[in-house]
Amino acid sequence: RKTAPMPMDIRARKGGAPIVSLTAYTTPMAQFMDAHVDFVLVGDSVGMVLHGLSSTLDVTMEMMILHGKAVRRGLSRAMMVVDLPFGAYEESPQQAFRNAARLMRETGAGAVKLEGGMQMAETIAFLTQRGVPVMAHIGLTPQAIHTLGGYKVQGRGEDSDRMMADARAVAQAGAFAVVLEKVPQALADRITAEVAIPTIGIGASAGCDGQILVVDDMLGLFTAFKAKFVKRFATLGEQAEAAIAEYAAAVRARDFPGPEHVFADEAPEGQA
Ligand code: KIV
Ligand code: NA
Repeated sequence: RKTAPMPMDIRARKGGAPIVSLTAYTTPMAQFMDAHVDFVLVGDSVGMVLHGLSSTLDVTMEMMILHGKAVRRGLSRAMMVVDLPFGAYEESPQQAFRNAARLMRETGAGAVKLEGGMQMAETIAFLTQRGVPVMAHIGLTPQAIHTLGGYKVQGRGEDSDRMMADARAVAQAGAFAVVLEKVPQALADRITAEVAIPTIGIGASAGCDGQILVVDDMLGLFTAFKAKFVKRFATLGEQAEAAIAEYAAAVRARDFPGPEHVFADEAPEGQA
């Protein structure tokens, strides 16, 4: 594909081939995934994954802009979505627009994502009517961890009707897609069947219109904990620690640097 997919292209893939996405926070990781994913999310998970914060509540606009710019430099093909951080959009549609416009302008994002269902419908409509494509995020919404009371499965039993109403509300308000996080499979399938916009699952269902994972989780780079919905496709954290241990041993044994890593007094012909 020559040009980056737009939110409307993602929207048009409802019911079609699965939409593939991952989070990214840095230029090299964005480069690794650019050819393989449909969109890249600069998630506020960056706070926990790269900055050692204990939740996403302390993530700032400045962090999202810094990482958004870095990711943008690594993408030539995939669309980039940037999370609005906690406190940057909940107050009013106007506040949300101001911060969403700043994220798009300063990072080159094609869309923003925000957490919330029915209660965010007015804001989603306000943004989409003013040129800001919005991806919604319902189910387990980590910015609401203190009111949800933990990282629990959302939408079980009687809560399922409320979650369906949330999905309908964000679609009706103009969101181009909706992330479903940590919801029962049957509910994810019902929402996918009944709402007109693509569902992007994380801990939801293989039947969703697309999937997303935190890249550091699926690569085994983030190892503080592993959610049930995470599949580790690699163990890069273990590999990194083993490589570092090998380096430390080589330095202590004076095996590194080797003859091939050091310089003679005079440069050989044709070399610097
Ligand atoms: O911040 C994030 O990584 C996210 C995804 C898990 C959807 O919001
Ligand atoms: Na997020």
